[in-house]
Amino acid sequence: MKIDKFKVEEWFNKYEHKAIYDLADTCVESLSVNELLDITNANLTELYTRKLNYGDIHGSNKLKDSICTMYKKQSRENITITHGTIGANQLVMLSLIDSGDKVVSIIPTYQQHYSIPKSIGANVNILYLREKNNWLPDLDELEKLVGHDTKIICMNNPNNPTGAVIPDDMLEGIAQIARRANAFILCDEVYRGLEHNGEISKSIADIYEKGISTSSVSKVFSLAGLRLGWIAAPKEVIKEVNHQREYNTISVGILDDYFASVAIENKEKIIKRNLNKILEGKKVLTNWLKNEKYCHCSIPQGGTTAFVKYDIDMKSTDLCKKLQQDTGVMILPGETMELDGYLRIGYGNNPDKLKKALYIFSDWLEHQ
Ligand SMILES: Cc1ncc(COP(=O)(O)O)c(C=O)c1O
Repeated sequence: MKIDKFKVEEWFNKYEHKAIYDLADTCVESLSVNELLDITNANLTELYTRKLNYGDIHGSNKLKDSICTMYKKQSRENITITHGTIGANQLVMLSLIDSGDKVVSIIPTYQQHYSIPKSIGANVNILYLREKNNWLPDLDELEKLVGHDTKIICMNNPNNPTGAVIPDDMLEGIAQIARRANAFILCDEVYRGLEHNGEISKSIADIYEKGISTSSVSKVFSLAGLRLGWIAAPKEVIKEVNHQREYNTISVGILDDYFASVAIENKEKIIKRNLNKILEGKKVLTNWLKNEKYCHCSIPQGGTTAFVKYDIDMKSTDLCKKLQQDTGVMILPGETMELDGYLRIGYGNNPDKLKKALYIFSDWLEHQ
């Protein structure tokens, strides 16, 4: 299967190890094993005698039960466990999309949502989010794109890179449009739980009978190193996905399964920790924006990234290359997410470093 280069991941592979200030990252500062044990009071003795076999093939009941608490209407039978959200998205697409199918993808977003359907041979129709709409989808435009021949709508909420959070009534509106066309919706909800006002938005799996939610412990729980994600979907979809999954997953690691379960069982504590960090970083970012004459942005309402427009005459890839070369500050160019003229800035890590890096960036901009 031929597939387009994954621009964001390639950018990371090329530049991340050289960065002094990494503002491209989308994770909230990761938890160490010690921190996780402190927060959760997990007792590891039960792990010492555990045989390191494949474990529960579709994920342990302990894990699935904890994941169900992230939803209103899901039960064990509606869940399967995957290698991160990246594995979840891919499995859904490989299971449901055939060559020639019509897919509607809402971008900017994680490249999987349009490049995998394209690689399968689907006819991919793009709905662009616009800054003037605070990066929320225009439902009239969506309605025009979605027809009875549409197999699936691929989207992401809260959104990477813009930080927009689709209000619940608008999500219901999207479900209505899909319902009329009998189309699936795959909603990548990897940042759901990191809404800045503390109100977790509705999941597509809870509000739409053909809604599929993918997520993981990478962002909301700061445990990207576990590589543990899931799909919440109607039982028939889970059946299809599990069939596909036999070929690329077997099971996830049993230690990952265990640590993810205890993290999700303690979700209030971990989400509180992460929201505090995000809000601290967001304050640094918004204060910086107030005084930075070359940059502005629609203020993010969820997740860990802002999509910042800049007013100098340079392509975003050239800007980011030169900025990093000159100063060690790494920012992600909008071109890697199909929108030149923008930069993605992650603000969920160390706020002091963030502040320093943003002022280095401002100083650098003055000299261009
Ligand atoms: C929107 C989105 N989906 C999926 C992923 C992959 O996440 P995971 O670590 O859960 O595989 C990312 C990672 O940045 C993301 O931003």
